[in-house]
Amino acid sequence: MEKQPFLGAHQAGILTPQQASMMLVAFDVLATDKADLERLFRLLTQRITFLTSGGPAPDTPNPRLPPMDSGILGPYIAPDNLTVTVSVGHSLFDTRFGLQAQMPKKLQKMERFPNDSLDAALCHGDLLIQICANTQDTVIHTLRDLIKHTPDLLSVRWKREGFISDHAARSKGKETPVNLLGFKDGTANPDSSDNALMNEVVWVTGEQGEPTWAIGGSYQAVRIIQFHVEFWDRTPLKEQQTIFGRDKHTGAPLGMQKEHDVPDYTNDPGGDVIALDSHIRLANPRTKETQSSLMMRRGYSYSLGVTNSGQLDMGLLFVCYQHDLEKGFLTVQKRLNGEALEEYIRPIGGGYFFVLPGVQDANHYLAQSLL
Ligand code: HEM
Repeated sequence: MEKQPFLGAHQAGILTPQQASMMLVAFDVLATDKADLERLFRLLTQRITFLTSGGPAPDTPNPRLPPMDSGILGPYIAPDNLTVTVSVGHSLFDTRFGLQAQMPKKLQKMERFPNDSLDAALCHGDLLIQICANTQDTVIHTLRDLIKHTPDLLSVRWKREGFISDHAARSKGKETPVNLLGFKDGTANPDSSDNALMNEVVWVTGEQGEPTWAIGGSYQAVRIIQFHVEFWDRTPLKEQQTIFGRDKHTGAPLGMQKEHDVPDYTNDPGGDVIALDSHIRLANPRTKETQSSLMMRRGYSYSLGVTNSGQLDMGLLFVCYQHDLEKGFLTVQKRLNGEALEEYIRPIGGGYFFVLPGVQDANHYLAQSLL
C-alpha cells in the first residue's frame, strides 16, 4: 500500500515523484474572520491526515442523513500514494484576516505576459489545493471529501485535472513524462534527493528575509497553457526539435547522445547546434549569473473537449516551485517571452501561490505559524 507521509518540515507533493493523476483546485475563502480561517486550516489538516493515511470509510449511523463518505472508493479508503498540497494566494493577505504584514515578500498577483490570453475564470484564488494520487478515483474522492467538510468555508473558483503516462508514474521519477507535444518534460530538473540543493532552489529558509512563519514553504507558479496540437502535428520534426533544443525521441540536447547529457553553450556561442531562441537555452542559459533562476517543475498534461473554434482543447498544467518567485519563475518567463514555441501555445490561466510550510507533528495544523 503506497503511502506518502503528510507530516514533516515541508508539504508532500513537491519533491514527491509524480503520481499518475493530479488536480488543481483554486478556492475563494468564505471565512470572514481569523477564527473561521483557523477552523478551515484545522479541518483541512484533519481531512488530509485521514485521506493520506487511509482507513475504513466512516459509517453513516443514521440513514436519514447524507452518507459520511461519497462512497466512490468503497468501504475502504486506500492511501493510493495521495498527496494534498495546500498553498495560499496573494488575495488571502488582503484586509479580511489582518494578515497584510505577514505576506511572503515576493507573493503577487499574476499579471499578463505578452503571449497570454488569460481567462479571468481560470485565474488566481485565495487558496490552491494540488491533489495527486495513483488513480483519478482517489483524486476525485479527495476533492469531494474536502468540499463536503468545508461548505461554509470554501467555494470552488476553478479546477483542472491532469495526468502523466502510467509508465512514467510507475517508474517513480526514473522515467521522464512525455508532454502532449511529444517531448520529455522534466529532464533538467535539479536533483530532488540533494537536500542542500533543494534548500537553495525550492524551500524558503532563514536566508531570504521572509517572515519566519514562511520557512519551509515555497513559491508555486501555476500556468494553464493550451497547445495548438493540430498545428504542431503539421510542423516538421527538425523544426520541433530546434524549437525545444532537444531530440524528440531520446530527449538528449541536440548534438548529444543521452537524455541527461548536459549542454555546454560556451562551445556553441552562435547557436549553430542549439538555437539561441530554443526553449531550453532561453529557460536556462547555464551561466553563473543565471544559476539563481533554477526551479523545480512538476507539470501535468490535460485534455478536455473541443474549443469554440473546433480545435482539440489540450495542453499543460505547468507547475513550478522555487524559493523566490522573482528569481525563479518570473525571471525565466521574461527570458522565454518571444520564444519560438509561442506560436504553438496559449497561456490561458493560473496564478502565483505560496505553499504553506509542512505540519511538524500531529499536534499542529496547516498555516498555524501564519495565524
Ligand atoms: C525545459 C516543455 C513552459 C521552464 C523544458 C523541456 C521541455 C519543456 C520539453 C526540455 C526537457 C526538460 O528539461 O524538462 C515546455 C512546454 C511548455 C513549457 C511544452 C509550455 C508550453 C515553460 C515555462 C517555464 C519553463 C512557462 C518557466 C517559466 C523550463 C526550464 C527548463 C525547461 C527551466 C529546463 C531547461 C534546462 O535546464 O536546460 N520545457 N515548457 N518551461 N522548461 Fe519548459
